Amino acid sequence: MKSVDFIKLASSGVQEIQPYQPGKPVEELERELGLTNIVKLASNENPLGPSEKVIASLASVYPELARYPDGSAYELKRRLSEFLNVAENKLTIGNGSNDVLELLARVYLSRDNESIISQHSFVVYPLVTRAIGAELKVIPAKNYSQDLDATLDAISGKTRMIFIANPNNPTGTWINEDDLTKFLDQVRDDVIVVLDEAYFEYVQEASYPNGIALTEKYPNLVVTRTFSKAYGMAALRLGYSISHPDIADLMNRIRQPFNVNAMSLAASLAAIDDQDHVRRSVEMNTAGMRYIEAECQRLGLGFIPSVGNFLTIDFGRDAMPIYDGLLHEGVIVRPIGVYELPNHLRVTIGTTDENQRFVNALEKVLK
Ligand SMILES: Cc1ncc(COP(=O)(O)O)c(C=O)c1O
Repeated sequence: MKSVDFIKLASSGVQEIQPYQPGKPVEELERELGLTNIVKLASNENPLGPSEKVIASLASVYPELARYPDGSAYELKRRLSEFLNVAENKLTIGNGSNDVLELLARVYLSRDNESIISQHSFVVYPLVTRAIGAELKVIPAKNYSQDLDATLDAISGKTRMIFIANPNNPTGTWINEDDLTKFLDQVRDDVIVVLDEAYFEYVQEASYPNGIALTEKYPNLVVTRTFSKAYGMAALRLGYSISHPDIADLMNRIRQPFNVNAMSLAASLAAIDDQDHVRRSVEMNTAGMRYIEAECQRLGLGFIPSVGNFLTIDFGRDAMPIYDGLLHEGVIVRPIGVYELPNHLRVTIGTTDENQRFVNALEKVLK
């Protein structure tokens, strides 16, 4: 049999992609390390899980599992439009916000243009850009945050898309309304600005911008959101975007007809109706964040101040031995060398117990 180099046959952009490294499942680690009761603080999930109303809503779908879901997401769009006070034709629903980010890239990026991202920004932006063969410009971060002036300076005739995460994962840094609007005022109106608000519910800063309202003033601005974080529904995969109706129209043309499943559609309606659960989740996060920050200070560790549901801690040296030590104590956090932060680890804020277990394990490992 002749041997074919299937890697070389792939489009050059795809060849350059580094595979996404998801955290190992807890069960696999428990088997490998011979531990039980592992605490997973590695993927910025909601430690409270979803609302009980969400869990109850899933059973309503069981009798209909043989049928295709509503490909138009009619009910969800109606409900979201009411809840967010936006026109339904500005909404696009996706299988997680990753799906929506990919749809945007497929609509607007090509081999002839480029996207701009910041150093230390979310891994999916380079992934969706490269998959299409578009060029990727990475702007050095400033104090771990996106440098908007440098981003403006980097815009060229080829620029079609700019990704901004607000707040950003894995740094937890954020952009205030003044800086964002000054930036948007200067961006050419044929450049699509994607404002990723996956963690916006957690932010409690007065000058945090209202991205959705800004889409009225800036038609080239697209906001993406998710039910994976504060709503605790990461396994169900549901995200959406708010954009100019023409952008939504194009995204809807290329999405898979049934990109969102019936369970997530039912669950998201129930989730919107339980805002108390979101409030509880945010309160628990804020308290946990203050606790872990204080413990880091006590242990003499630096960290990047974060407004998300995670904190990135600076060990001032290769963080992998600390990661391994924590793993052997049964606590999984996230190494972020792939984000060019090899001396840092990102920890998701957990329940009070989980946070204490993390701090105790950290103290032991550092000794
Ligand atoms: C900044 C950011 N955007 C988007 C997502 C994607 O979330 P999902 O596809 O679950 O909606 C994540 C997930 O970790 C994220 O950190």
